[in-house]
Amino acid sequence: MTKPISRRFILNAGLVLSLLLVMAGWLVTKTTASSKTLAHKSPTLGVVSKDQGAKQPKLLLTTRHAFPQTAQGEKTIDQVQKNIKVLNGIPQAQLIPMMNFFAASLGVRCNFCHVNNAGQWDYPADTKPEKSTAREMIAMTLNVNKTTKATNGEVSCFTCHRGRTSPVGVPALPLPQPTPRPGQGAPGGPAAPGAPAGPGIPAATMPTADDILNKYLEALGGQAAIDKLKTRVMKGTYTSANGMTATYEIDQAAPDKFHVVFTTPQGTMERGFNGSAGWEKNPRGVMDMPSDQLAQTKAAVGMFSDIRLKEQFTRMNVRKDKLDGKDVYVILGTTTAGRRERLYFDAETGLLLRRTTAMQTPIGIIPQETDFEDYRDIDGVKVPFTIRTLTLDAGSTATRKYTEIKANAPVDESTFNKPPASPPAATPPKP
Ligand code: HEC
Ligand code: HEC
Repeated sequence: MTKPISRRFILNAGLVLSLLLVMAGWLVTKTTASSKTLAHKSPTLGVVSKDQGAKQPKLLLTTRHAFPQTAQGEKTIDQVQKNIKVLNGIPQAQLIPMMNFFAASLGVRCNFCHVNNAGQWDYPADTKPEKSTAREMIAMTLNVNKTTKATNGEVSCFTCHRGRTSPVGVPALPLPQPTPRPGQGAPGGPAAPGAPAGPGIPAATMPTADDILNKYLEALGGQAAIDKLKTRVMKGTYTSANGMTATYEIDQAAPDKFHVVFTTPQGTMERGFNGSAGWEKNPRGVMDMPSDQLAQTKAAVGMFSDIRLKEQFTRMNVRKDKLDGKDVYVILGTTTAGRRERLYFDAETGLLLRRTTAMQTPIGIIPQETDFEDYRDIDGVKVPFTIRTLTLDAGSTATRKYTEIKANAPVDESTFNKPPASPPAATPPKP
């Protein structure tokens, strides 16, 4: 049934919220879903099915109430997946990022806990003892964060594991000499968060977040040019760290309508949003996009998602830092959705160089980084032609490069609407 799709691709895909990766994230869920019938769980949350209740009642520490970030109408992992015992009540969108987080924290791959039978993954299977241990670990981590105030909810798998399966629990002798000058930080490491603005910079010369965002709009071409932007057509290529490539085309219209076509050797996927409803079309058919996916896709392909930044944040602080030898201003912000982000602006040109996101899950904070390069002027507004996304997944990098961008060219707005359901993917007999 399911086409053999490169595993690396799926993994990259699940993690990143950027367009292509989001679209590809589809493959993971569908790949797992394809091995089972769809209705498998009582929709009543927190209800324990007979067999799991009998075996591991102690692990069920989580309830829906513990994770208020689940948006209205958004499915939880236990509602979608087949064999969930501890990750109850957590948004489905966090499943694959968390799995990548487990793998990165322990320095392993999915097959450390999951079985692969002759190329077919069976994620629900409880064959490996490591998966049961992981369940106990998840329960412990959730519990520590819930009951130990002083940890600030920030204990994660990585806190102990640090890239290995066996955490070091005993200090090695002889103890190392104390470092001569405490507070210097690790060599080459980033400045500690909250570090002072830097030597010799009086606080008065630090711009405010507003100053930085205004300078950014100016650097892009100015508010007037941005306001003139009504449509955009972008074509590009996508290359993952392992050389997987795809092509894609995005049609956008102000303020946030889009239609994306993403073509891989395995097939074509489309997503669209007409201002009120989001949809997806893939080889299985046409469906409505769930609210969480819609929000992610909008963030990745909305025309103004990296331009109109001010309205996306509720709180912003500024500090000075260096990025690849350049002076940058970093805005540390909290988005309206409660997500922590950092925006790195070139202190000289004012352009956005990097955007990092921390996805807060009950088992840890999952980082992601997007770099913007090669800004070029398109009809008065600068656009980054190269976008690199770094994820936790084995540190892999995926790069998007635009080959063609047209602004304010006519766009057929009907392509933003959900297409009629097409007949099943079966190829019609040749005439
Ligand atoms: C350290 C162990 C561990 C690693 C590594 C791991 N997983 Fe998991 N995975 C689990 C556990 C435990 C569960 C079940 C969680 C529960 O019961 O609430 C699970 C569940 C899943 C499920 C849901 C299965 C179902 O019940 O339908 C999927 C899909 C999945 N993992 C994918 C992955 C992928 C993809 C990777 C590699 C990126 C991965 N996992 C790496 C431990 C792991
Ligand atoms: C408080 C510290 C701590 C935290 C937090 C923690 N672990 Fe562990 N973990 C351990 C220790 C200690 C062991 C036992 C290591 C050994 O046997 O050498 C272990 C063992 C494991 C094993 C078995 C490894 C093997 O070789 O069979 C798995 C799987 C695992 N942890 C997964 C996780 C996951 C997933 C998380 C996050 C949800 C997590 N752990 C969080 C301390 C921790």
